[in-house]
Amino acid sequence: MTTVLDLRRFKAEGRRFAMLTAYDYPIARLLDDAGIPVLLVGDSAAMVVHGHSTTLPITLDEMLVHARAVARGASNALLVGDLPFLSYQGSLEDGLLNAGRFLKEGGMHAVKLEGGRALKALVQRLVEAGIPVMGHLGLTPQSVHGLGGFKVQGKDLASAKRILSDARELEEAGAFAVVLEGIPAALAAEVTAALSIPTIGIGAGPACDGQVLVVHDLLGLTVGHRPKFVKQYANLAEEITQAARSYAQEVEAGVFPGPEHSYGPTISVVADEVKYGG
Ligand code: KIV
Repeated sequence: MTTVLDLRRFKAEGRRFAMLTAYDYPIARLLDDAGIPVLLVGDSAAMVVHGHSTTLPITLDEMLVHARAVARGASNALLVGDLPFLSYQGSLEDGLLNAGRFLKEGGMHAVKLEGGRALKALVQRLVEAGIPVMGHLGLTPQSVHGLGGFKVQGKDLASAKRILSDARELEEAGAFAVVLEGIPAALAAEVTAALSIPTIGIGAGPACDGQVLVVHDLLGLTVGHRPKFVKQYANLAEEITQAARSYAQEVEAGVFPGPEHSYGPTISVVADEVKYGG
């Protein structure tokens, strides 16, 4: 089973690794069997599973339902639960109790939270309580309204410096890894070189220690806009639409179900009634 220590070792050995999101049992099982070492139960579930336009509406209770399903499906991957908007920003105590629920009730091994220096005390508190923490900097989707949209961050010197110093603060507070989302590749390379914990990039170029994608994007299940950083490795949307159409056509034509999908034995209740009376 992959642990937070393995990720540190991967970095020390210069070994890159993949992380994917997962939200349910069958996909978690398939990704785990495929050897993906880290699965993130991301709050992107709000968008790709629940159909919201941002990650903000999903609740901790909803996230826990996804987490439990993923935990039942995966037995090798390191499982990370994404703390949803306002489940950790209120107070240290709220943050601790909510993060703890991911481990206690959700079967996760670690939590992820969005933000830098403002969360340093919370990260320290969680780590002290035995809850491994993954940070998330750059384009932090829970701040979409404050950022004025899903926009690349760290493009000017001041904000690039802030991302680097936030990353250092997270490392100092005890985070075991940091997601870098939507930042220039050169900045991600500098942050990666400056930290001894792994960086995991999404829209942050090739220099990060690991990469993460939303599994629906990878599989071609996402409807609507596809960001530049996404590489689609399959087109399941097309496969699903085609399968559904074929099924409906066969039902309408009386082709499905065929004898191979039907149960025997062939006895006739009507013939029996005619022979022996009802
Ligand atoms: O929720 C999510 O899927 C994420 C990844 C994009 C890192 O936070």
